[in-house]
Amino acid sequence: MKILEVKDYSELSKVAAEIFAAEIIHNPKIVLGFATGSTPIGMYQELIKKYNSGIISFEECQSINLDEYCGIGKDNKQSYTYFMHEKLFSKIDIKEKNIYIPNGLNENIKEECDRYDKIIKELGKIDIQILGIGNNGHIGFNEPGTKFSGNTTQVKLTANTIEANKRFFDKKEEVPKKAYTMGIKGVMNSKKILLLASGINKSNIVYKMITGDITPTIPASILQLHPNVILVADEEALKKLKSAFPEKIKKINEK
Ligand code: PGA
Repeated sequence: MKILEVKDYSELSKVAAEIFAAEIIHNPKIVLGFATGSTPIGMYQELIKKYNSGIISFEECQSINLDEYCGIGKDNKQSYTYFMHEKLFSKIDIKEKNIYIPNGLNENIKEECDRYDKIIKELGKIDIQILGIGNNGHIGFNEPGTKFSGNTTQVKLTANTIEANKRFFDKKEEVPKKAYTMGIKGVMNSKKILLLASGINKSNIVYKMITGDITPTIPASILQLHPNVILVADEEALKKLKSAFPEKIKKINEK
């Protein structure tokens, strides 16, 4: 895992967008893996700027998202489909037919998981997958205890995740209890992973993910085995790792 330390969230967003944009320029027909959560929002804003200045186009790109809440549809402001359109898709030239997100309204779990796995298979390998990391080490909605070999699945969200995500809802009770998520297998099949972490509340999990055992208890620990992961993290998120293993960090300005 290559670790790029950046100063703060603003720099993280710019650096991540530069890495992502370079991949699109290199291969306009790229398969992009998107994530939701608050961490990638700044990066999406930077990508929109690059699109507006004519540096990149998403016209030929395919895109696939990691996850979606169950029980809410694309018109619900809390859905990840709504989030992606609001934060990115409606502001760039990506084609609607090339956007793939699980359908949270499909109550037939097997049908929805099979449908999504078929899409993943047909798209081929995801060229670059964005990931955030949950405080409990989840990636996508693959919560602690998830099998590393898992395909798309419906998961029950942990109390920790519901607590962390309640900030996006009026009331904690409104946070959906279940979600569809691409499995760890799909994530690990990506050619490149861009993992983003910002803020002091990620310092502990970043440290554990990188220095601890590879264990389903911390799903993100599997990333230690991926050959092409770039962690872009700010000083706060790297605080614990840096104080224990300063040599592990490569500063972006020393590139
Ligand atoms: P966050 O979420 O970006 O809102 O911190 C990350 C995650 O839960 O994967």
